[in-house]
Amino acid sequence: MAKPEIALDGKVALVTGGGGGIGRAAALALASAGADVAIIDVIPERCDELVARVTEMGRRALGITGNVMDRDAAAGAVETTAAHFGRLDILVNNAGGVSWRPFVDLKPQNWQRHIDMNLISNLAATSAAIPHMIKAGGGAIINVTSIEASRAAPGYAVYAACKAGINNLTRTLALELSDHGIRINSIAPDSTDTPGMKGIFTGSADPSRWPEATPQRKETLRRRIPLGRPGIDHESGTLIAFLASPLASYITGTIIPIDGGTWAGGGWIRDAGGKWVLPPDLTSID
Ligand SMILES: NC(=O)c1ccc[n+]([C@@H]2O[C@H](COP(=O)([O-])OP(=O)(O)OC[C@H]3O[C@@H](n4cnc5c(N)ncnc54)[C@H](O)[C@@H]3O)[C@@H](O)[C@H]2O)c1
Repeated sequence: MAKPEIALDGKVALVTGGGGGIGRAAALALASAGADVAIIDVIPERCDELVARVTEMGRRALGITGNVMDRDAAAGAVETTAAHFGRLDILVNNAGGVSWRPFVDLKPQNWQRHIDMNLISNLAATSAAIPHMIKAGGGAIINVTSIEASRAAPGYAVYAACKAGINNLTRTLALELSDHGIRINSIAPDSTDTPGMKGIFTGSADPSRWPEATPQRKETLRRRIPLGRPGIDHESGTLIAFLASPLASYITGTIIPIDGGTWAGGGWIRDAGGKWVLPPDLTSID
């Protein structure tokens, strides 16, 4: 039997928010598996950097500067990719974002921004991609949701509702698209080191330039996450490339946590001595 390998030669992928963080890692993982890759990102330098990296890897690349909160831009990125490469096999709906505020303090325009960013962008790109995948004889869609889609998320109510909506869209479309050979899955990260998590919203997305986490943050994550550390962007990127590949040929309609065990933990955290406890045994972790 051949050695199992993520092989995407001849495939074309589009990654939304592909210039930084999990999206960038997904674009690089897809390219290293052999795919040609397009990204859409709001930051032009990040598009340029990613195109240069993918080109160095010997794959074709396309950077589209645009904002997926505009549904026409999200759908347009799909059409531009398919026109440029002649096909579309893989869509990674990664772009998303959140700001913290209690629900009672949110105004309708705040709801709308979260919905446009986390839900409508996904619907627009997915809807545009399906006809191209049907034409190609099949495809793979990977949605990046969040652990917050599956539990209460105080201060992140609308974001969590959108991500939960995407998880159920994933299940529903797995059935609706199965006859076309299109598989659709979600990955659900917990804290993962990315430019967004580090508060870097412009400029380079190169992880080697990010500041080191404070000792306090490291300790917080050690206590809260069973594996004791934040996720690394390429761990999510590799999972996305796997789900896009023939190795995942029997996987559709799933929500895969990539969270160091947080979801399994269900509220258990380490105390200062490393013993697993449930609140109210908890002393402050800050
Ligand atoms: N990092 C985490 O801890 C974490 C945890 C759970 C879920 N997620 C989800 O993972 C996804 C990626 O998160 P990340 O932390 O890698 O993000 P990030 O902010 O680090 O990077 C996102 C990239 O998308 C681009 N972008 C932002 N808004 C855009 C828009 N409107 N249109 C086009 N491009 C846009 C940014 O320029 C950036 O390059 C999001 O959907 C997020 O909700 C992240």
